Amino acid sequence: MSTEHFDAVEIIGIKRDRGTLSPEQIDWTIDAYTRGVIAEEQMAALNMAILLNGMDRAEISRWTTAMINSGERMDFSSLRTPAGAVKPTADKHSTGGVGDKITLPLAPLVAAFGVAVPQLSGRGLGHTGGTLDKLESIPGWNASLSTAALMDQLSECGAVICAAGTGLAPADKKLYALRDVTGTVEAIPLIASSIMSKKIAEGTGTLVLDVKVGSGAFMKNEQDARELARTMVGLGTDAGVKTVALLTNMATPLGLTAGNAIEVAESVDVLAGGGPADVVELTVKLAQEMLAGAGVHDADPAAALADGRAMDVWHKMISAQGGDPAAALPVARESETVYAQAEGVLTELDALSVGVAAWRLGAGRARRQDEVQAGAGVRLHAKPGDVVRRGQPLMTLLTDTPEKFGRALEALESAAVISAEGSRNGQRLILERIAE
Ligand code: URA
Repeated sequence: MSTEHFDAVEIIGIKRDRGTLSPEQIDWTIDAYTRGVIAEEQMAALNMAILLNGMDRAEISRWTTAMINSGERMDFSSLRTPAGAVKPTADKHSTGGVGDKITLPLAPLVAAFGVAVPQLSGRGLGHTGGTLDKLESIPGWNASLSTAALMDQLSECGAVICAAGTGLAPADKKLYALRDVTGTVEAIPLIASSIMSKKIAEGTGTLVLDVKVGSGAFMKNEQDARELARTMVGLGTDAGVKTVALLTNMATPLGLTAGNAIEVAESVDVLAGGGPADVVELTVKLAQEMLAGAGVHDADPAAALADGRAMDVWHKMISAQGGDPAAALPVARESETVYAQAEGVLTELDALSVGVAAWRLGAGRARRQDEVQAGAGVRLHAKPGDVVRRGQPLMTLLTDTPEKFGRALEALESAAVISAEGSRNGQRLILERIAE
C-alpha cells in the first residue's frame, strides 16, 4: 500500500479546475517529483495547468520554499567587516539580454564599497549570453570554485563570479528541463519561483533584479515584465531578502558588443572609467540599488569607476580565479562588415536579431554540451538615436568559422531601421523601479 499523502492526479485536477493548492500539497508535489513518485507526464500536465490558470502569492511562495528545501543553502554570516560586524552581501540577477555584460563591472564596483558580492552565474543557452562564457575568454580563468575557495575569495577580494554548484535547488534543475521541452517555460509563477529559489538558497541579504523587456528579452512586453518583477520582489521579501527590481529596455543590445571576449573588453573599458553610456548608466544604477539595500547610502559608484577603485577589485577577483587580467583577449580570425543602406537617424537596432547573429557566429550554444568561440560576436558601430550616412559601417561580424557569416547576416536582414525623420533621443534604458 502506498504511504504517499496525496496523489498526482488529484493535485493536477485542483489546478486544472482553478483551485488553490494547500502548503502540504505543494511540499508533497516538489518532494514527490524529486523522488520520482510523480511521473514526468504528470508534472508536465501540472505545469501546463499552472501556466494556464496561475497560482496565488501564497502558493508561489510555498512552491519556492519547497524548491529551496530540495537542496542546500549557502551561509555568508561568517564573513566579517574589519570592525568585526557581519559583512553585508548583495547580489544582482538579470533575466537575460543581448550584450548584457553588466555583472562584470558591477560585482567589483559594489565590492569596492565593502559589500560582499557572491555572484553565482550560469552559461548561455540560445541568443542570450552567459556570464561564465564571457569570463572564460580570459586566459587561465576558472569558473568552478569549491565552497571553501568561494568563501576565501569573498573575504579577500569581496567579489566572486563563479558557477553555481549543483546543490542549490536541485528540484528546479529537473523541473526546468521538463518545462523546456513541454512549452511551459513561460509560466510567470514557474519562472519567478525558479529564479528566486536559486537566489534565496544562495543566501544573499540584498537582491537587485534586472528584469529585461523587449525583443531580446524573455518578456516581450512591459505588462508581463512588471508582473514577473512584482512576483519575484514579493517572493524575496517573504523570504527576508531585501529585494528590488528594475525594468530595463532590451529592445536594442546593451553597449556596443554582443559576444564573449569583446564584452569582457567593453567591461574593462567601463572599469577604466570609459565605455558606452548605457552600460555605465545601468552599472551605476544597479550598484546604487545594491549598496542602498546593503546599508551603504553615501556611495558614489561613478567615482569608483573613474578613480580605479573598482578596477583594483577586478584585477584581484580575476587573478584569484587563475585569470591573467593583463593578458590579450582572443580575437576572431574572420570579420565581415554590414553597412548602412540609407542616410538618416538609426531608430531601431533589434536586440533579438543581433543576439541571434552573435549566437550563429559561435558566441553562444544551441545545446548545453556545445563549445562557444571566445572571439565570436557582433560589434556595433551605431546605436538608436545616432545619425548615420549611407555606406557607413553599422556592425562588424566576428567568427573563427566564416561559413557562419551567411546565417548570421540573414538574422540581421531587417535589424536596423534608418529614418529620415527619426528622433535623436535614442531609447529610454531604465523604465521602472519595483519594490514593496
Ligand atoms: N531562468 C531561470 O533560472 N528559470 C526560469 O524559469 C527562467 C529563466
